[in-house]
Amino acid sequence: MKQRVEISEVGPRDGLQNERRIVSVEDKLHFIALLARAGFGEIEATSFVSPKWVPQLADAEEVLPRAIAAHPSTLFSVLVPNEKGLERALACGARKVSVFTAASEGFTRKNINATIAESIERFVPVVRRAHEAGVSVRGYVSCVVECPYDGPIAPKMVRTACEMLAGIGVDELDLGDTIGVASPDEIARVIEECASVRPVHELVLHLHDTHGRAVDCARRALELGMRRFDGSAAGIGGCPYAPGSRGNVATEALVDLCESVGYSTSIDRNALGEAARFITGALAAP
Ligand code: HMG
Ligand code: MG
Repeated sequence: MKQRVEISEVGPRDGLQNERRIVSVEDKLHFIALLARAGFGEIEATSFVSPKWVPQLADAEEVLPRAIAAHPSTLFSVLVPNEKGLERALACGARKVSVFTAASEGFTRKNINATIAESIERFVPVVRRAHEAGVSVRGYVSCVVECPYDGPIAPKMVRTACEMLAGIGVDELDLGDTIGVASPDEIARVIEECASVRPVHELVLHLHDTHGRAVDCARRALELGMRRFDGSAAGIGGCPYAPGSRGNVATEALVDLCESVGYSTSIDRNALGEAARFITGALAAP
């Protein structure tokens, strides 16, 4: 039996949150349907953040319930920055939510208008209430290698942020190279540092691909024992509050990498290609 690698598809959230064009609800749902058909166990569907901050995802209340109803065997996760976001997500039937902070103060301030410590305080009731509702919680740490405002980030700052999130009870930790600048050696140092917080095979790696090194970083992460990655079909994406951030690593490239070195992803590559073509067309349409 081949060893398995889990790839979560984050295109409907991270892929669409930074696009000038606002994709229609129907197109978002069609994109999600094609991704579900490709076999993703988990898809990040949208965000329950302030619609003033991310207007591209202001239709979360329309997208999430319809996605859940149409694809009952897929786990749809959503971003929530605070209790208000969690209540909106729960009202729509969310079974998994993600809180998000960073290893750098500059990005945390620009992205969620808080210090790192304030963000963790804000998440305490979110995690508690989510768990009471039987909802699991991912904790993202952004800027694990470099921050667009504060510059290079020491791996121990990433570990500290992971420890803070683990300390308030998040179920999983996701390490984000938000601006896509990491080299494989830098990613290796971050993984080695964070291995003291959670076993490496439980950590998730969330790569962006500004400098074309994301697949090499993923390869190194696999060698170090990581088995969980986020990808975005067609490599769309980026964060509106991270200047210079480009697309996420393309999910197609991650699937190809994993399969080429002997892991199984259970993703139907042709169906994924169709999803990637569809969303690229929807974003390019006049
Ligand atoms: P704030 O302005 O400080 O918040 O924003 P506030 O509490 O003062 O509220 C201001 C207004 O927003 C109020 O409305 C609130 O009700 C409303 P008003 O009275 O002015 O009409 N509000 C909300 N509305 C809907 N849903 C909510 C919500 N919360 C407040 N949940 C806040 C603070 C956190 C809300 C804001 O900064 C925000 O929404 N930020 C989100 C930014 C974002 O989504 N960034 C991208 C995701 S992170 C990312 O991409 C990185 C990642 O991919 C990993 C990686 O790559 O590294 C995950
Ligand atoms: Mg991202």
